[in-house]
Amino acid sequence: MNLEEYQAQTAKTRAERMRWWHEARFGMFVHWGLYAQLGRHEWVMNRERIPVAEYEQLADTWKPIDRPARAWARLAREAGMKYMVMTTKHHEGFCLWDTAQTEYNAARRGPGRDLVAEYVEACREFGLKIGFYYSLMDWHHPDGARCARDEDARRRFLDFTQGCVRELCTNYGRIDVLWYDVSWPLASPELWESAAMNQMARQLQPHLLINNRAKLDEDFGTPEEHVTAEKEGRAWEACMTFNGSWGYMPISPDWRPVREVVGLLHAATAGGGNLLLNIGPAPDGSVPPEAVERLSALGKWVGPNQEAIYGQVDRTQGRMEWLPIGSWSLKGNTAYFWCTRWPGKELVIGGLRTQVVRASLLASGQPLTCEQSENRLVLKGLPATQPDPIACTAIIKLECSAPPKQVLGAGYVVLE
Ligand code: GLC
Repeated sequence: MNLEEYQAQTAKTRAERMRWWHEARFGMFVHWGLYAQLGRHEWVMNRERIPVAEYEQLADTWKPIDRPARAWARLAREAGMKYMVMTTKHHEGFCLWDTAQTEYNAARRGPGRDLVAEYVEACREFGLKIGFYYSLMDWHHPDGARCARDEDARRRFLDFTQGCVRELCTNYGRIDVLWYDVSWPLASPELWESAAMNQMARQLQPHLLINNRAKLDEDFGTPEEHVTAEKEGRAWEACMTFNGSWGYMPISPDWRPVREVVGLLHAATAGGGNLLLNIGPAPDGSVPPEAVERLSALGKWVGPNQEAIYGQVDRTQGRMEWLPIGSWSLKGNTAYFWCTRWPGKELVIGGLRTQVVRASLLASGQPLTCEQSENRLVLKGLPATQPDPIACTAIIKLECSAPPKQVLGAGYVVLE
């Protein structure tokens, strides 16, 4: 099968394969590896030019507690996340599963067991879909860099890579997402043999979703550290750090507040995309308390507001306008107004061209009085101050008679 045929075939099944993912909206990314022991970012080996032989010692000193993934999965569920993606091998090259491809793996070295198996089990226990992150770039494999200038090395490295992907797609039952990362140093999908590799993965896991980082577009785009919608019709998932580092980095004090995470969730929802929010567990596998605290609070916010987040949402771009006091998300005939700057007992929205049938506060269900004239919607009976104590974001639900549409524009135009 050539590349075009392969792409046409995967496109045919895409909508069906991706249904759960579009509805899920929110996932947990987990970066965990030897680098956690140093606590200075997952790029520490590269950034500090740590010699391979020195770095390798971390494989023997790594002694995580028993099944820490259960706590991650429990926390993910509590926070309202529906799936997880864990690093099975990051750029450092250490494999977290029991692989036949290299001795440099968690079963043979310090941990003494298959950490991917524990993760998979935990996801299943807590009802989360399962994603595997896999870094193509490898700083440890002797051919990881050489493969770019030596054909024999490339063959060996691809055999290794394909062997890893085959094991990950064979040994753990149903896997939902294959999340590649960094395709340095090979310059094209042909050199990576990406189509053949992904075809193999899909044969083993027919419902699999694959991201775009093996140099093929595949099922979804992966904006990183910004929540930006891809072009209409293209699925996307924004991956975001919690404190500026993917790997455990206790010296980084910049934890995103819950309010900001809700803002990210809004941006993903409004753009019809997903949010993959990262935690970097400590070397023992425990989740940093700053993340636990924020994700638990987030869950309390998501619970009563979940209707606005999950499910088949519509993009707001081109449909709704910006407003200074909050922003929109859309689902069928309903508009959700995520109000971050509470105006008081009365709230006015201009330019809404759709008839509002019912207005209420989403979290409490409290109905609001609705006065709608040609070009203005006036909502009355609101609490005097911001009713949401968790994220300073209360959602107002507007049930309309048709898919909502708002027209304001830059000029002051009175409705004809
Ligand atoms: C970047 C980084 C990597 C991180 C990834 C997550 O590509 O190299 O450390 O795992 O982004 O998206």
